[in-house]
Amino acid sequence: MMPGSRNISAQVPGSSYQALDLLCTLAAVLDASGAVQFANAALENALGLSRRVLEGSDLAVCFMEPTLLDKALCGARDNDFAALRFEASLRRSAAEALPVHVTVSVIEPVGHVLVELWPLEQQVRQDREERLREQAQAHKELIRNLAHEIKNPLGGIRGAAQLLQMDLILPELQEYAEVIVHEADRLQALVDRLLAPHRHPHHVSDVNVHEVCEHVRTLVLAEFPSGLGIVRDYDTSIPEFRGDRSQLIQAVLNIVQNAALALRERMAEGDAEIVLRTRVARQVTFGRQRYRLALELHVIDNGPGVPDAIKERIFYPLVSGRDGGSGLGLTLAQTFVQRHQGLIECDSQQGRTDFRILIPLP
Ligand SMILES: Nc1ncnc2c1ncn2[C@@H]1O[C@H](COP(=O)(O)OP(=O)(O)OP(=O)(O)O)[C@@H](O)[C@H]1O
Ligand SMILES: [Mg+2]
Repeated sequence: MMPGSRNISAQVPGSSYQALDLLCTLAAVLDASGAVQFANAALENALGLSRRVLEGSDLAVCFMEPTLLDKALCGARDNDFAALRFEASLRRSAAEALPVHVTVSVIEPVGHVLVELWPLEQQVRQDREERLREQAQAHKELIRNLAHEIKNPLGGIRGAAQLLQMDLILPELQEYAEVIVHEADRLQALVDRLLAPHRHPHHVSDVNVHEVCEHVRTLVLAEFPSGLGIVRDYDTSIPEFRGDRSQLIQAVLNIVQNAALALRERMAEGDAEIVLRTRVARQVTFGRQRYRLALELHVIDNGPGVPDAIKERIFYPLVSGRDGGSGLGLTLAQTFVQRHQGLIECDSQQGRTDFRILIPLP
């Protein structure tokens, strides 16, 4: 074996490169002329080209900067290095160019190279998810402790105000005491919602995602009977999975209700629309893990979009962009979906807001 070269096919029966299909990084093996000998599944997906098309072709033309790979291949041929790294962009047929970190390593047999590509977007996204998860955890603990601190004296304040109410003779003073009782009740309801996710036991059964969607659809149409269309775009091949039906209904309901509230103006015009779209996603990475299969439920509305000022914080508790909102709906939804090892993401612009719920499937 050449010094510094890797023999990646030796462990694989039949000396094939099939094991590279298990990687979530994009990978290809090139021969001495730079022609693709093998392209793994992740690379096929990223380029939108099948392995059959890729094999035998020149990988350099798939880059916006083909000379970078050509130079690396020359270096590999001349034995200038064992591994080389550079940054480039992959040209994709059906999507915009994908920035990648490229590693070219010399492997056996002589002249062959392994090209690994790490999507930069994926790295950035994973770092961002990680940061958000840590922040969310810290917020949750703070809110929970604060809610407990408020809850304890609140009962005493309410009780004392009620006693006062009974003893006060002047009606206007009674009214003041009534205000205290009323406000204490309002605060109690808020605190109860803040603590709800910590109280909710996780009840697991077989869940059919379309049954969840239909339930939510019926509830929201009853609440907003005119001017709102809820379109179903279901992939009915999605299997049932183990989960907590009522938590998932609550999560989807919170998201669809937000969409409906954002559509108020369009409802008046009669063209408000929410799409419930279900799909199966393959080989997706979220929440630090890679999943072979995941359920993808999109709630898409044609409303004005999430206000820019709160876009980065909508999943945080008490962040609201509308009058009368308590800013807990999305926090609860995210908590319930996370209990299913899932994640909710949001992509929003004027005229199209897409909340995507991802949940791993067995
Ligand atoms: N589909 C959407 N379109 C536009 N803005 C949205 C959408 N969904 C959420 N938002 C914004 O995100 C904010 C936070 O939503 P969240 O459900 O957490 O709280 P809320 O709706 O204000 O109050 P709550 O749900 O607790 O009654 C909303 O107030 C709204 O400004
Ligand atoms: Mg809400």
